Amino acid sequence: DGDRPLEGRTALVTSGPTHEPIDPVRYIANRSSGRQGHAIAAALARLGADVTLVSGPVTIPDPAGVTTIHVERAEEMHDAVLSRLPVDIAVMVAAVADWRVATSSDQKIKKQAGEAPAPLILTENPDILKTVGHHEKRPRVVVGFAAETQDIEENALRKLERKGADLIVANDVSPETGIMGGSRNRVKILSPTGVEAWPDLTKDEVADRLARLIAERLTER
Ligand code: C5P
Repeated sequence: DGDRPLEGRTALVTSGPTHEPIDPVRYIANRSSGRQGHAIAAALARLGADVTLVSGPVTIPDPAGVTTIHVERAEEMHDAVLSRLPVDIAVMVAAVADWRVATSSDQKIKKQAGEAPAPLILTENPDILKTVGHHEKRPRVVVGFAAETQDIEENALRKLERKGADLIVANDVSPETGIMGGSRNRVKILSPTGVEAWPDLTKDEVADRLARLIAERLTER
């Protein structure tokens, strides 16, 4: 299987943000272009994997050679992911909103002259990576991302443990890095056996390297 080491394997990737409705015209979201997640889905497919991408709302095209499922909310993303198990590989790249509005409104909330704005009551969203990492149908290789602005390694190590992941790809998303929405990324790969710092690469190069690393981990055990 020369250059298609993932032939016969299945993979699930999440990408993009989620949009959590406040009312029909307003939402809460994280910043995410979907570029890194989409690139990973495409890279796994190039290595021969049968890839399903579950994408939140993004403006970039669906990657070639991949089955893409479009969702809006975290709960929809969670259900779409769980419905595709079992798979061999899961790479959870989406910037899922941690909270949703507990009582989102079917009608647009009107501004009332002279009245204080209505408070938003938030409730926690399901943690998709954590659910997959501890699932009875847990994929052989589970990869998470950690977008941090401080104490990157420390936070990523804690995430590895808590989420039940094999690898965490940690990146510094401080505004001055230009990583958010940009085409380049500088990451550290954390596993229970150590940390590997990769050089500054394009998101496509990060995706290719990560897909190769996943293929190695699948074949070595
Ligand atoms: O906890 P935190 O959001 O920092 O963790 C980031 C990792 O967890 C990413 O891989 C992200 O895709 C995943 N995640 C998830 N579901 C959530 C929150 C985060 O899958 N509700």
